[in-house]
Amino acid sequence: MDEPNRKLSWAVGKKTVLCVGYSVIDCITIVRRFPRIDEIERGVKGYWQRGGNAANTCTVLRNLGVDVEFFGVLSTSPMFSIMLHDMKVRGIKIDNCPRSNQDPPFSSVIVNKSSGTCTIVNCNNSFPYPSLEDFKKLDLSKYGWIHFRGNRPEITFEMMQAVEAYNATQTEKIVISVDMDGSFKEHWPLVDYCEYAFFYRQLADQQQWKSPRQACNSIDEHLAMRFGINLKRPLVVVLWNLQKVGIMDHNSDYHRPTAYRPKKFVDSLGATEVFIGAFIYAVYVRERSHHIAANFANLMASYKCIKCGFDHISDILMAPVL
Ligand code: FRU
Repeated sequence: MDEPNRKLSWAVGKKTVLCVGYSVIDCITIVRRFPRIDEIERGVKGYWQRGGNAANTCTVLRNLGVDVEFFGVLSTSPMFSIMLHDMKVRGIKIDNCPRSNQDPPFSSVIVNKSSGTCTIVNCNNSFPYPSLEDFKKLDLSKYGWIHFRGNRPEITFEMMQAVEAYNATQTEKIVISVDMDGSFKEHWPLVDYCEYAFFYRQLADQQQWKSPRQACNSIDEHLAMRFGINLKRPLVVVLWNLQKVGIMDHNSDYHRPTAYRPKKFVDSLGATEVFIGAFIYAVYVRERSHHIAANFANLMASYKCIKCGFDHISDILMAPVL
């Protein structure tokens, strides 16, 4: 294998990782300061790229050399064809995605260089989501890990149950993970089926969480209150921000992975997907402990911010030139 591809070899022999969710168009503008109302602000840079949490997680995993598949509805609109092309050339599988002739969902993103923040307006125009019937057409024997972006909890719940029914017949089980914001109450039932559950800070207001530690303790209490001997107990990861990630392990012990400050700040769009993708990579492909995986994921999420997009992240895996 060529020298630059050495990093890819780690994933050889691992089954595909499937990411379920949306693929959208992100229209991104980087500004020096956040625009004031009724004033025109000149952007430092503007571009658009394929986005959506699940699609971004696919890009991250693929850049780390992982065999990956996206599962979500794809728009047949001509403007979306560039996004499909991008997935194809990267080797992200999309063969099993249902199609829709509706215009694709899009997000307007403002990255503020001075504050290091990222403001996003999502517009999904009621774009369709894959159904349980679509999901049941998948050949689950191909997958080693399925990551669900908990977009539509009621459908995601059924999809997870389908995976669990499959797992019950297998010795080599599919690992299930989920990331969630939206309504805590609606998403909560998903944790019963997961090995890993990632919670976003966006849930903090509705749950009155003031810190990742408090969020972890509160989630831990909720987990302890469940009834049912077959319920899974996920490893809980609270993604508060780049400097603050909290982990509640299976023994209700709280950890904070090492925080890394980006050497320079350019763009944080998708940093959480980098955390999640890097975490899955470290646990699944490199078979590292949760502790090491979370440190690595945090380092990668911070490294992501020094450039736009996700294509530089795997540079960190290259052995330094002596
Ligand atoms: C919603 C979204 C995407 C963007 C991502 C960033 O899925 O706003 O448009 O790529 O989140 O985390």
